[in-house]
Amino acid sequence: MRYFHPWNKFLMSDIKINDLNKNGLYPEFLIKEINDSLRYYIKKYKRIPGILRDAIEYSIENNGKRFRPVLCLLTAISIGKDYHAFLPTACAIEFIHTYSLIHDDLPSMDNDDFRRGKPSCHKKFSEDIAILTGDALFAEAISLIIKYQKTDNGTKIRVLEEIAHASGVEGMVAGQVIDVYYSGKKMNSKQLEYMHQKKTGKLIIASVRCAAVLCGTSDEYLEKFTEYARNLGLAFQITDDILDVTADSNMVGEKAGKITLKGKNTYPEMWGISRSKEIAADKINKAITILKSMKIDYELLVNIANFLLLREA
Ligand code: IPE
Ligand code: IPE
Ligand code: MG
Ligand code: MG
Repeated sequence: MRYFHPWNKFLMSDIKINDLNKNGLYPEFLIKEINDSLRYYIKKYKRIPGILRDAIEYSIENNGKRFRPVLCLLTAISIGKDYHAFLPTACAIEFIHTYSLIHDDLPSMDNDDFRRGKPSCHKKFSEDIAILTGDALFAEAISLIIKYQKTDNGTKIRVLEEIAHASGVEGMVAGQVIDVYYSGKKMNSKQLEYMHQKKTGKLIIASVRCAAVLCGTSDEYLEKFTEYARNLGLAFQITDDILDVTADSNMVGEKAGKITLKGKNTYPEMWGISRSKEIAADKINKAITILKSMKIDYELLVNIANFLLLREA
């Protein structure tokens, strides 16, 4: 049976950005730039095993929203910079995100057969290739920044540190470990927030912080950007969980019953849908209040925050 999700009908090549952007809040002009850059960097790989190239292209070429790289570029724009200069770091973050999704879908993790409307990497290729493709994307993310991000070496190391921190034992991996460890067991609300902050929040925070670091932002502003992104990251995962449930009731197939069947800990499970929506809205309000206390061009960052409350994919 098919898994229906509003976003899944589209392939990257014929992406219907208007559907994503129907409320005018998502910066569609950046999606194409990011996709072009991702393709450009992948094309540069010479003499790599054909199946590895295919698996990388397959996983990156998709109808993803590119939320994290978009956020990275928007942060640079808000500080008044030309976003083009930040594309290597933005793409590196998308590499890390894609690696995390490939591993997340594996049978030993969430065992999801579909991702972004296509068979997940291990279904299309095989489990061994999916693990290795994730590994490759992680390493190549680091390489992208080292090779292509124009900045002084000290700043480059700070950006790499942001990414390593967001991905590692205090970041995404920590969140994923808690998620699988508590599968089928009940978390309390503190543990749930911790898990979300780590598995999803940290990379979203890094997306904003990397741009801010590259721009040479003051410590005070770096902290404000971090607080903005912390609220955004939590709202992102809460709305993701709500979408899983609301999609659940409208459809049949792979995703139907996913949450209840797998005993996943989520906001809707703990608080119900309407309270979860209120919590997400509260986080978004906090994020926007922080932005408005800053002397930056915050409009696009405000819009993308509001987008999270209206998103359908
Ligand atoms: C999905 O992330 C996984 C989570 C961390 C919630 P996205 O919703 O950003 O996935 P794509 O990249 O748009 O497919
Ligand atoms: C994915 O979280 C988080 C990471 C990959 C780090 P979920 O497992 O909740 O997201 P989906 O539902 O598979 O996209
Ligand atoms: Mg998961
Ligand atoms: Mg999953």
